[in-house]
Amino acid sequence: MPLLRIVNYPDPVLLKVGMPIGSDGCDPELDGFVANMFETMSEAGGVGLAAPQVGVSKRLFVMDTPETDEFDRVRAVLIDPEVVHVEGEQIGDEGCLSFPGLFQTVRREMRVIARALDQKGEPIELDVRGLAARCILHEIDHCDGIVFLDRMTALKRELAKQKIKRLKRSGKWDRS
Ligand code: NI
Repeated sequence: MPLLRIVNYPDPVLLKVGMPIGSDGCDPELDGFVANMFETMSEAGGVGLAAPQVGVSKRLFVMDTPETDEFDRVRAVLIDPEVVHVEGEQIGDEGCLSFPGLFQTVRREMRVIARALDQKGEPIELDVRGLAARCILHEIDHCDGIVFLDRMTALKRELAKQKIKRLKRSGKWDRS
């Protein structure tokens, strides 16, 4: 299965609001695209991947967060996702496949209830906590053209930008 090419920040597609997909008719191309998204994400070692990250400016993402002592595994594709409720807070390191090698502290809500369409165009609702909640918020941001730099405190963002410069200079940023 061909792997999709992940684009890195600051590719303009990462800063664009994605187009809604909707449920009109089952798109046979969608199944192949979603399968490729999962494959690309797992190959790259990520837990979430949004369509804009592979150059497709649409509101779709895949996620696969591992089971832990506290939480179940969450593997899903969310189309036209929306957050309907958030609560609590978690402060922890976050990464992004479009920012290879960069991890930085980001504050997110601890619990998220999100609605979306699944691959067949059926409505789904997810009620998740911890990493899965962080992942959903991060990926919905991608659908809105927002990257995790925008969610950092000013100080952390400055540090992150310096780190990106260093990674670029050492040739560890751009994919061939
Ligand atoms: Ni990301």
